[in-house]
Amino acid sequence: MCDLGYLLLNRRLKVSDQPKDQTMTRHFKIAAALLTLASPAMAESHMSSAVLAGAEDFRKCKSCHEIADGGKTIVTGGKTGPNLFGVLGRRAGSVAGFKYGDDLVRAGEAGLVWNEALLAEYIQDPRTFLQDRLGDGAARSRMSFKLRKGAEDVAAYLGSF
Ligand code: HEC
Repeated sequence: MCDLGYLLLNRRLKVSDQPKDQTMTRHFKIAAALLTLASPAMAESHMSSAVLAGAEDFRKCKSCHEIADGGKTIVTGGKTGPNLFGVLGRRAGSVAGFKYGDDLVRAGEAGLVWNEALLAEYIQDPRTFLQDRLGDGAARSRMSFKLRKGAEDVAAYLGSF
């Protein structure tokens, strides 16, 4: 995008037979227009690179979690943990039929709803997260796994379902 913009600008300047100041005005107008176009595209490509990296890291979660929309399996995984389809925006500990630990259910009942930031924090250390959240040093998590690196990417990836 930027290279293309640069080429277009150069070409514009070379072929232009207008007085210098007008050419400069055009130059800035075109540059401004290109920037407007480029920004959303760049934000999007940044987002999808996080999602791609997250997909890679999600391999570590698959032994315990599947992603399934109703009866339709999207990502095959284990059942030790709850289905993670649509987890962002969902109340913690609320998948019907899954046997959660009491403390995650308690956090959900106290208002914990997963968003990208909270989920990323949780998967780095579920037990400490619950203890902080509930203000209870005795709180426990049934998820023993900790993801040390790439938690934000995995959260972005889960947000894509
Ligand atoms: C060894 C099995 C295991 C692994 C690996 C694992 N989890 Fe979990 N996960 C669980 C269990 C069990 C629970 C339920 C925790 C509880 O009830 O306290 C859970 C709960 C969760 C929840 C809360 C869901 C809800 O419905 O409130 C999220 C989010 C989550 N896991 C994400 C992940 C992600 C992302 C990964 C990979 C980075 C991962 N888990 C890896 C077993 C696992």
